Amino acid sequence: MASKPREQWTSRAGFILAAVGSAVGLGNMWRFPYLTAKHGGAAFVLLYVTIAAAISVPIMLAEFVIGRGSGKSPVAALRHFGGDRWRPLGWLFVATGFLIVAYYTVISGWTLRYMLEGLWRGFGGDTRAHFEQVATGWDAVGWQVALATINVAIIAGGVKAGIERMSVVLMPLLFALVAALAVYAAFLPGGGEGYRYYLQTSSTKALTLSVLLDAAGQAFFSLSLGMGAMLTYASYLSKEENLPRSALIVAGADFAVALVAGLVVFPMIFAFGLQADVNDSTTGALFITLPRAFASMGGTGHVVGVLFFAVLLVGALTSAMSLLEVVVSTAIDGLGWSRRRAVLVLGLATTALGVPAALDLSVLDVMDKLAGNVMLLIGGLGLAIFTGWVMHNPVAEARRGAEAVRWWPAWMFLLRYVVPAVLAVLVWTSIRQLLGW
Ligand code: TRP
Repeated sequence: MASKPREQWTSRAGFILAAVGSAVGLGNMWRFPYLTAKHGGAAFVLLYVTIAAAISVPIMLAEFVIGRGSGKSPVAALRHFGGDRWRPLGWLFVATGFLIVAYYTVISGWTLRYMLEGLWRGFGGDTRAHFEQVATGWDAVGWQVALATINVAIIAGGVKAGIERMSVVLMPLLFALVAALAVYAAFLPGGGEGYRYYLQTSSTKALTLSVLLDAAGQAFFSLSLGMGAMLTYASYLSKEENLPRSALIVAGADFAVALVAGLVVFPMIFAFGLQADVNDSTTGALFITLPRAFASMGGTGHVVGVLFFAVLLVGALTSAMSLLEVVVSTAIDGLGWSRRRAVLVLGLATTALGVPAALDLSVLDVMDKLAGNVMLLIGGLGLAIFTGWVMHNPVAEARRGAEAVRWWPAWMFLLRYVVPAVLAVLVWTSIRQLLGW
């Protein structure tokens, strides 16, 4: 075991911004706006907030409690509170993180390329053909490796000098850029139609099981839950932190960015008459439709497009950081490796695993369905059962630094009954989808 004392965040803001950085990612910039428009506008937003409060915040608090209470990375943390029998759940987390970071880095690499290319020569031409070139073959591998190198360099710096220092600079920048883009979009002639498309609730939309599941899946994925990312970040916390408040702040900030992202993308798409291109939940709208809109904006579009992809890049990079940190901290704690060695070896290994996804989009898709969907949900189910039924007195740990909060019974009730029930249905549905039943 490493003898150095465990690193800690230097400030509360550092921890919060790092956790928000993990949460805010591609899921916020496209998937949330898309689901909202598809499933009933403002009514879906309400549903999403309710589910996030009932499912996501309790699980995030559970991850925070296990992480801070043990001061360890996932495998050791679960063992700390549950004994050897619970180590496999920790290994599931690490395996999930390993898989997700492999393909998430590939997509993040596209955003890096889009931003730099936009800077050099703007947007335009055949954006679909361009996307196909960016997203497949050795082009994609090159940018994947570039992004992985940046990620490795940051994580090699450790918790304070790497993750925290990057997060406190990049996340406020991201908030400012998203807000600025939303203001710009508000002044686009013809953009109002986009707001209507995004948020108008049509009375014919019914609340079906599949809408519920989409909302729950998004509330879970968008907050980076189910694989120990939040657990690992919380393991670098001091005992005084108010955990319930932190969970609410992180969830609130993630939601705010997602909501505002829709106020950016839909006016832009509608102002340039591109709505016919928006018909699927794939990344197409981000990488094909929006560049078309930027090209139509002329000189301004050059700047706006670069800033937009800067937002995507920051969101993606700060998420990739937390994914790699889960894997790296496990090797540091469990194998006694130095951080440098763990980052190099695991950075290489995850990059190698991502190469097939970079070469072939259908491989990426399968990895996303398996890890980003099924495995995360199983992880979340395990976490709820662990904290609700196995862990001895999780409330005592949660109360440290948060004496005044009174909803502990509600937290326990949600973790014991509501969260497992919802996640069990989600797991079942996503397995069926994966196998094509
Ligand atoms: N929350 C990220 C997004 O919205 C994606 C994500 C899911 C993630 N699970 C994660 C990121 C775990 C880091 C760690 O894009």
